[in-house]
Amino acid sequence: MPGVLRKAGQSNHFTYGWSLAIGICLTAFALPASAADVSAGQAKVKSTCRVCHGLDGLGKMPDVPNLAGEGAIYISKQLKAFRSGERTHQQMSIIAQGLSDEDITNLAAYYAAIKVTVEVPE
Ligand code: HEC
Repeated sequence: MPGVLRKAGQSNHFTYGWSLAIGICLTAFALPASAADVSAGQAKVKSTCRVCHGLDGLGKMPDVPNLAGEGAIYISKQLKAFRSGERTHQQMSIIAQGLSDEDITNLAAYYAAIKVTVEVPE
């Protein structure tokens, strides 16, 4: 039985704190210097991703993965892989074509900032 993933509510304090933490990490690892904009990420989620991945980051169809609380580096890497063709999927490959590097940074920061709790099966 898989672990249960559920949303524990969104807190702006957490969101801003987390985006700051991501900013620090990105600087520390000398990755893209532009700071992530979680609000811009959320706006993009509303217009482009919500129908499948949800505003809460939980997949809305059985074949759609959860993104809530997923690592920002992992999310960015996957979106860039879909965009470049390194990873392919009927829907995601098309969606990723329309994303700029900035969009990807912001989207990754938004989904990574969603606070999740897990319950491990007994
Ligand atoms: C039409 C439904 C749909 C929409 C809209 C959509 N996705 Fe997806 N997404 C999927 C599916 C299905 C997969 C699983 C792909 C696979 O099986 O390889 C996926 C996979 C992903 C993954 C990889 C997750 C992992 O665990 O490897 C990321 C990241 C992602 N989507 C982000 C986004 C973002 C950001 C948006 C909005 C810009 C978006 N998706 C819009 C359906 C969608």
